[in-house]
Amino acid sequence: MSDKIKELNVDRLKDPARRKLLAGTGAVGLTGFLAGGLWSLPADALATGEPAGSRLLGFKGIAASTADKIVTADGYQADVLISWGDPLVNGAPAFDPHGKNSASDQEKQFGDNNDGMSFFPVDEHRGVLAINNEYVNEQYLFAHGGSKATSEEDVRKSQAAHGISIVEIQRGADNRWQVVRPSRYNRRITANTAMIFTGPAAGDKALQTPADPSGTKVLGTFGNCANGKTPWGTYLTCEENFDTYFGTSNRDYQVTPAQKRYTLNPNEAERNWADFDARFDMAKNPNEFNRHGWIVEIDPLDPTSTPIKRTALGRFKHENAAVTVAKNGHLVVYMGDDERGEYIYKFVSDGVVDSANPAANTHLLDKGVLYVAEFNGEAKGTPLKGSGRWLELTHGKNGLTAENGFHSQADVLINARGAADRVNATRMDRPEWIAVNPHDGRAYCTLTNNSKRGDEGMPVNPANPRPKNIYGQIIRWDENGDATALKFNWDMFVLCGNPIAHPQGVNRGTPNVTAENTFNSPDGLGFDRDGRLWILTDGKYSNEGDYQGQGNNQMLVGDPATGEIRRFMVGPKSCELTGIAFTPDYKTMFVNVQHPGEEGDSTFPNNSPRPRSSVIMVTRKDGGVLGA
Ligand code: FEO
Ligand code: CA
Ligand code: CA
Ligand code: CA
Repeated sequence: MSDKIKELNVDRLKDPARRKLLAGTGAVGLTGFLAGGLWSLPADALATGEPAGSRLLGFKGIAASTADKIVTADGYQADVLISWGDPLVNGAPAFDPHGKNSASDQEKQFGDNNDGMSFFPVDEHRGVLAINNEYVNEQYLFAHGGSKATSEEDVRKSQAAHGISIVEIQRGADNRWQVVRPSRYNRRITANTAMIFTGPAAGDKALQTPADPSGTKVLGTFGNCANGKTPWGTYLTCEENFDTYFGTSNRDYQVTPAQKRYTLNPNEAERNWADFDARFDMAKNPNEFNRHGWIVEIDPLDPTSTPIKRTALGRFKHENAAVTVAKNGHLVVYMGDDERGEYIYKFVSDGVVDSANPAANTHLLDKGVLYVAEFNGEAKGTPLKGSGRWLELTHGKNGLTAENGFHSQADVLINARGAADRVNATRMDRPEWIAVNPHDGRAYCTLTNNSKRGDEGMPVNPANPRPKNIYGQIIRWDENGDATALKFNWDMFVLCGNPIAHPQGVNRGTPNVTAENTFNSPDGLGFDRDGRLWILTDGKYSNEGDYQGQGNNQMLVGDPATGEIRRFMVGPKSCELTGIAFTPDYKTMFVNVQHPGEEGDSTFPNNSPRPRSSVIMVTRKDGGVLGA
């Protein structure tokens, strides 16, 4: 979702019970960071030190841009692969640039607002991209151009533009990739596709509805932000802002504390699906709300497969799912919950990965332990690094008992936020993507920004040290080579800032931020094979005031060893750049241009009367490895 829209989300901190529970948990005073009113970084606080010429980054960083086009580093090119509304499955009509495609047209066309994605090779020259379609820009989706659905047909069209698009692509003789059409793999999964639940919460009373008394069958996925990929070749899609789809016109409807904890605001739902689809009406179907907010596993190479909501991974506003195999063979999934003050989680499977027999791994995501992170400062208070612990979220442990409202593991998982509150996990500055460095196993997490940090109930803490955090940071943790460890050390890869607007002070950022590479709101994140850290932004693009000199949203590359960061690519106006997938040779990279022109200021990609979210492919003109 666009950062601009997410900022509008309701402030759940108005709940006084929660405020009390959170008061004073792991907080440090401002004085350590704001001595004398001016914040100065102690030399030993630097995660990386002064960047010394990186040998990993082989391209020249580019200037910020405010142009309505993609700008890449010299020697690179970016081409559009597919855009919202392009025909996908057999029988799909062409895109209508005036919004006149029907709901049933949209069910066969590429979905809107593509975000996370993964590439699955089929053979050397063919592969399948699984791509999330997170949400819609109503003003462009509907022919009437309004921001609300005005009919059941509008709601069906919106639902059809959400979900996942599975797209076969093929590399031509010119080394460029093209969509294959028709293809047996091309598929749309929407807000109405049949799926099942597995894991500890499947069948639980809270997941039962009149349409599904078993609590095991569910329709659809939406708000699919980012993604993950399992070692056995399946796609994980992550349900993020699911709350915004549920509403009711019943003004007497009483929101429960658990619903409030997931920021449900039914009388002012951002999307009015409930007006035309009773499944989303809280007064009529309150448990439908509990059936979303999960991680869904999809087999992209089997078009007949049923998507599976894996409840063992917990229910929250999932950003992505960073999957790694620990050295002892257990599967580990790191996950962020993107909301101001929410948490970072880790799932460790009970079983071990059997690389010789992929089919044997399919249930690894159903049995395991869910943890939530606590970040502490060092005893002497050295900022920007410290230690941490993973706190277990298992029924019967750590106060997750019936007397505290948790009667089963299903209760813990369905209300994972409440469970994490109970164990006093550390409230973070909006955890977005997590990525694991393939060379040393260290995990990196974008903490995008947090306009409420420092407010009552959300004091600064060592890992989230700036009040009114407008620029964000990338934190990383080191589990000493064992991804199943219960303790870690952390430091800050970068505290983003703007030395142009703020030559000194907390908003300058760490020394690896310069006037040349300054950016705000890191969001997408991914490592390539060589260990380059690719960073995508979803933030403010005014290019004024605090954001002067930063331009449009962009992609940068970091060197984990030296800390150096260079700007690689800049997107068109009012888009975010997100999603990242490489071909196995690391010579083509797919990136998503999401919500271009959300301010009505773009005609991306091809002088479109209605701008269109698109997948682009980035290559080096000399055919070399990206970034090298
Ligand atoms: Fe969909 Fe947190 O970004
Ligand atoms: Ca997004
Ligand atoms: Ca974001
Ligand atoms: Ca995001």
